[in-house]
Amino acid sequence: MQLKLIDIKKVLILGSGTLGLRIGLQAAISGFNSTLYDINETAFAPAQKIQDTILKNLVEKKLISPEDAAAAKSRITFTTDPVKAAADADFVSESVLENLEVKKKVWAQFAKLCPPHTVFTTNTSYLMPSLFAAETGRPERFCAFHFHDVFIANVVDIMPHPGTSPWVVDLLMELGRKLNQTPVFVKKESPGYIFNAMLVALIGAAGALVTYDIASIEDVDRSWMGNFKMERGPFGILDLIGLETVWHVTHSLPDAKSKKFADLLKTYVDAGKLGVKTGEGFYTYPNPRFQEINFITGAV
Ligand SMILES: NC(=O)c1ccc[n+]([C@@H]2O[C@H](COP(=O)([O-])OP(=O)(O)OC[C@H]3O[C@@H](n4cnc5c(N)ncnc54)[C@H](O)[C@@H]3O)[C@@H](O)[C@H]2O)c1
Repeated sequence: MQLKLIDIKKVLILGSGTLGLRIGLQAAISGFNSTLYDINETAFAPAQKIQDTILKNLVEKKLISPEDAAAAKSRITFTTDPVKAAADADFVSESVLENLEVKKKVWAQFAKLCPPHTVFTTNTSYLMPSLFAAETGRPERFCAFHFHDVFIANVVDIMPHPGTSPWVVDLLMELGRKLNQTPVFVKKESPGYIFNAMLVALIGAAGALVTYDIASIEDVDRSWMGNFKMERGPFGILDLIGLETVWHVTHSLPDAKSKKFADLLKTYVDAGKLGVKTGEGFYTYPNPRFQEINFITGAV
């Protein structure tokens, strides 16, 4: 059975971390019943707090009404029970750890639990979906559906693997728009989709400037922000993404520059400094130095 947008009632998000909580929230705002599953129950309270903050901001900016925000919240369920999570799921978006073995394990688990009609998608940043398509048990219904930040950067990559059925791509184009994203189509498997392929080159260059002691973290960001009139530079962007996720990606790249940068990132990860979500990364939050009025000029 080919699924149509109208058939999707329940959306299941695997992993309620940085991205999962946002995709789950947007799904609820778009009118779906949204279930967030995680193995770690302690992830739920911080996820709910961030969702509440996002909803509050959307209401303040008059992007949604207080009634719609409350209705969206009432459509969200959190659970650590995989059977309950999978029951009646029409669509799955996976946002667990960026680790191939973990993703394979999770998909093998949910392949057995979800109904046969369910469409499966992964939000992986750099892994190729074909690496774990077999574990889904339904490779023809499986595709990469990759979000960026969901609310601020609302672009979603749709990247099939060679076995994805074309109707799944059509469905995801429609679903992407329904989720208030701009869908972009990646014609064949390629690391980093579209935006991340460009971003990784920038981050790699920024990392090398610091690890080879050519420039300071602040001057790298200052240069980028001053030239492009951007709100944040490469290191501010990394704090937003989350340094653990960035470490997983950088660590897996084969070249010496990336390995050297991964070593630096590891010192932050080991110290629990994961970026915005822990209150500290390359900068401290909620008031990072790069947001100060004199940051770009460097005046003290
Ligand atoms: N952070 C970003 O900006 C970003 C952007 C696009 C895509 N992604 C991708 O999304 C995925 C998640 O990234 P994130 O930044 O949200 O990570 P995160 O570390 O914030 O969250 C991952 C969550 O997965 C959970 N988890 C781990 N193992 C699990 C399992 N076996 N079953 C269920 N849950 C499990 C963890 O408890 C955690 O809550 C990764 O593949 C990442 O590459 C991240």
